[in-house]
Amino acid sequence: MSVRALVVDPSASTAVRLADVPDPVPGPGQVLVDVSHASLNYGDLNDARSGRVPVGAVLGADAAGVVVRAAADGTGPVVGTRVVALTSGAFAERVAIDVGALAEVPKGLDLAQAVALPVAGVAALRSLRAAGLGPDKRVLITGASGGVGRFAVQLAARAGAHVIASVGSAGRGDGLAEAGADEVLIGLEGLQRPVDVVIDSVGGPQLVAAWNLLAPGGSVQSVGWTSGEPAVFPPYATVGPAKSLASFVIDGDAGEDLAVLTELAAEGAVTIEIGWQGPWDRFAEAAEALRGRRVSGKAVLEVA
Ligand SMILES: NC(=O)c1ccc[n+]([C@@H]2O[C@H](COP(=O)([O-])OP(=O)(O)OC[C@H]3O[C@@H](n4cnc5c(N)ncnc54)[C@H](OP(=O)(O)O)[C@@H]3O)[C@@H](O)[C@H]2O)c1
Repeated sequence: MSVRALVVDPSASTAVRLADVPDPVPGPGQVLVDVSHASLNYGDLNDARSGRVPVGAVLGADAAGVVVRAAADGTGPVVGTRVVALTSGAFAERVAIDVGALAEVPKGLDLAQAVALPVAGVAALRSLRAAGLGPDKRVLITGASGGVGRFAVQLAARAGAHVIASVGSAGRGDGLAEAGADEVLIGLEGLQRPVDVVIDSVGGPQLVAAWNLLAPGGSVQSVGWTSGEPAVFPPYATVGPAKSLASFVIDGDAGEDLAVLTELAAEGAVTIEIGWQGPWDRFAEAAEALRGRRVSGKAVLEVA
């Protein structure tokens, strides 16, 4: 038996193609999920070309669907439960998923919406947590128009922070004030007062500029590097009152944080913006839109 999946293929223009892969065999602490939706992350585009996901292996991290076989060890959701997960090899019709990597999707939240949460939402939640968020902090979020950025804006605003959202061009800021941003800037133009926290997905010169804006005691969380440009710190830029530049990566099971995020989304406390949605055989179109900075929020693939 086989299932359809999006696998890594360096000879394809997007480095990804639809293929048949063996039906997954779940381990004792895994459920089998029939996937209806997947979401495309910027990191997937990198993974397809970097070798991090091997040639022929299934790409993807964000999946949502329905449990068709419960875990043999008795843990996790029962058959028929709607779930969302952060798991490797997510872009397949059927996936075996660790019970710790998933959350049940509450009533009132569509799978097509819930699937946008795993990588982007968990990165936003955990990087803000790592930075030590609190009321009255000034928080700068770069790449705020994207997946991580839009969730970070909303979560920081909920925590009572003063949120400064930085985007690449005027139209990319649409909806960010409604999402909770107190200021929406193009680049970092005009930002003069120091900030306490930076959630940075852009890297390069903008990371250097953000570092210079950081108040003593503050922290930059380096979440991503979409600019692809080097960051060149002028001499003595890192000498002075203590502040930190922390690397960030999602590590370990995401189920508990996904449960928090799905509840917030179901209550309407966090809104999920889908900037591109379509069948997964239009993967190339979705990838091009994401790379071309034309997706506001998230890109969602309809599986099968
Ligand atoms: N460390 C982790 O665990 C982790 C987790 C999730 C994501 N990430 C990383 O975080 C980054 C953002 O991910 P995402 O899924 O939010 O991506 P996304 O949805 O594509 O958003 C990225 C944003 O970055 C900006 N951007 C894109 N290309 C740029 C460029 N050349 N120069 C300046 N800005 C650019 C765009 O904003 P404008 O169009 O407004 O400029 C875009 O909205 C990626 O590097 C991803 O790999 C890391």
